[in-house]
Amino acid sequence: MIRKATLDDVIYLVRIEKQVFTQSLGESFLYDELLLNPFAHYFVYEVNKEVVGYIGYRAIDENAEMMNFCFDPEYQGQGFGTELLNHSIEFLQGLGVKQILLEVRKSNKQAQAVYEKLGFQKSYVRKQYYGTEDAWVYIKEV
Ligand SMILES: CC(C)(COP(=O)(O)OP(=O)(O)OC[C@H]1O[C@@H](n2cnc3c(N)ncnc32)[C@H](O)[C@@H]1OP(=O)(O)O)[C@@H](O)C(=O)NCCC(=O)NCCS
Repeated sequence: MIRKATLDDVIYLVRIEKQVFTQSLGESFLYDELLLNPFAHYFVYEVNKEVVGYIGYRAIDENAEMMNFCFDPEYQGQGFGTELLNHSIEFLQGLGVKQILLEVRKSNKQAQAVYEKLGFQKSYVRKQYYGTEDAWVYIKEV
């Protein structure tokens, strides 16, 4: 099931981030996003009432930027990410968003495959965006 993220979800979001990334957006960042930022839109994916993944954006007028997208490793590769990404794109379309932008590590072929499958296009490189590693910027016109 997909639903909007709430403050009660933050501990689970941080737990998943710590499992999959060396750096996490962190608890206080996520609290502020959910509580104070009217441009923030976060969704969680639940299996048996357990939060196993999430996606977050900031959307202002016609532009949205993905802040994060991750799943517990045990639940990756089962189509849930595709479902959540699709759902969030439809939601952003409903807000009037026309362009979605995201950054992804050059080495992260799994995420790139998901983005390309859903019509995101490789646009340009942000040098050393992740410390020593470059990022691909992907853009989708919606
Ligand atoms: C990226 C991520 C959110 C995708 O979610 P997911 O549930 O694993 O994705 P799906 O199961 O829907 O897989 C979608 C596509 O990914 C590709 N894919 C899946 N596993 C893959 C792998 N090991 N290697 C390469 N491509 C892979 C396939 O193209 C798959 O599409 P298909 O099943 O139609 O062939 C998830 O894998 C994840 O949390 N990864 C670690 C964190 C991360 O990299 N986040 C993105 C930061 S920009």
